[in-house]
Amino acid sequence: MQNITTTLKKLFYLWRRSQVPTKQPTKVSKIDNLIIFLVCILISIISSYEKLLITPLNISDIFSWLLTFTEVLISSGILILVSKKENPTISSRQIILIMTLLLAVQTAKLVLASTFSPLSMIIPPALIISQGMGSITALAWVSIATLNWPDPANAININLFFILIVCASVVSLLGGRIRSRAQLLQLSIFVPIGSLLSQWILIGQDKMPPFDKQDFGFSNGNMFSDSFLLAIVMLFTILFIPFFESTFGLLTKARLLELADKEKPLIRKLSLEAPGTFEHTLLIGGLAEEATRMIGGDIDLIKTGALYHDIGKLHAPNWFIENQDGSKNPHDEIDDPIRSAEVLQAHVDEGLKYARKNRIPKSITNFIPEHQGTLKMGYFFHKAKEKNLKVNENDFRYKGPIPQSKETAILMLADGCEAALRAMNISASDKEALETISEIINSRRNDGQLDDSNLSKGEIFLIKRAFLSVWKRIRHRRIQYPSSKNNTFS
Ligand SMILES: [Fe+2]
Ligand SMILES: [Fe+2]
Repeated sequence: MQNITTTLKKLFYLWRRSQVPTKQPTKVSKIDNLIIFLVCILISIISSYEKLLITPLNISDIFSWLLTFTEVLISSGILILVSKKENPTISSRQIILIMTLLLAVQTAKLVLASTFSPLSMIIPPALIISQGMGSITALAWVSIATLNWPDPANAININLFFILIVCASVVSLLGGRIRSRAQLLQLSIFVPIGSLLSQWILIGQDKMPPFDKQDFGFSNGNMFSDSFLLAIVMLFTILFIPFFESTFGLLTKARLLELADKEKPLIRKLSLEAPGTFEHTLLIGGLAEEATRMIGGDIDLIKTGALYHDIGKLHAPNWFIENQDGSKNPHDEIDDPIRSAEVLQAHVDEGLKYARKNRIPKSITNFIPEHQGTLKMGYFFHKAKEKNLKVNENDFRYKGPIPQSKETAILMLADGCEAALRAMNISASDKEALETISEIINSRRNDGQLDDSNLSKGEIFLIKRAFLSVWKRIRHRRIQYPSSKNNTFS
């Protein structure tokens, strides 16, 4: 009996842990909640009102309308929950986008049913959602959009329904993984070809002729023009994805990789004006990437986040030790710990300004303040104490917030370990390196910096191991190979 109770307790604990979001959810304002609710009501009305137009109207028709209305309203709510579960930091703007696309599709089914193929109505929005919000949200959206047909007279036949479900699911699944615009273009060619072939096989050319010689146009039911129209609408969607990215703050994989391009003007500026910071950025990028891979986080996100995390140092590069290159340290010249602490905090504030000016998405911008969290600027705090200045410890802490996601927390840990690992003696053992890493990570954890990141003890263990393996790689690179005059084979 005791065993069963312990097992049940363990299961309950595991279930509760699985419900903890990996990132802190963003708060949705009351006005946004009201807008989202109104859009859901509108979707439910559009999806069900045709049922009230039957004459004579009897009680069973009213009941059937009420059932459809409630069904669509509940499924809209489930869709919002699924999107929040997949993207805990989803903004209200993005939820409004998902629901507006659903509203547009339900309206299009009523207005354009005779002109537009259902494939062209449902697949392109699924592509936008999968790119911006992920595959699971897109699949949930597709299931609601394919199952609810406002006008039963326009409901599609079972074979076309099957083709629609398969094509939309393929787009949803691949759309969430695609990493470049070129792959998106390939998708917009192959999906219409696939739909054309499957329509040919499943529906046959008798019922849906491939060419209508008299009236070749975009009329629903013509197999060739349906697929051609689908390809055109998908190409236009891809063309407009950057617009959705900037308007709704979507962060697609392609956008992430574009931002990670080291030829971007802001990154080029960093490499030219603050070469030390640029080198530091690349090194912690390597540490953070390995650790993120170990815990199964978002590698593309952290790679790009690492590149921009210290961009604010551009406001005064020579005030940071990595860029001084033996020249005079301005902090020594001013000899004012309070002013020095202000300069350090300014690298966060200025970084946020640079990010805003260069329209860097919020998920990347979050790395700027969160990699410093509310860490103490220990060196200048002790200097102030030595000078017997009346100082408050909080004046020597970064303004925060502390890391709100696993990725920003990993970057903070990598940022802390990078300098120590770089300075470590080449002959240091793995044990010594691991001790240094553990010391830095534990001090940040004890300081409460990881409290909001949801990193578990096991994940912190894996992060330490990942940093160690990167350090081993660095050490291997630094080992000088013996050279000899006769060494002609390398
Ligand atoms: Fe920093
Ligand atoms: Fe840094």
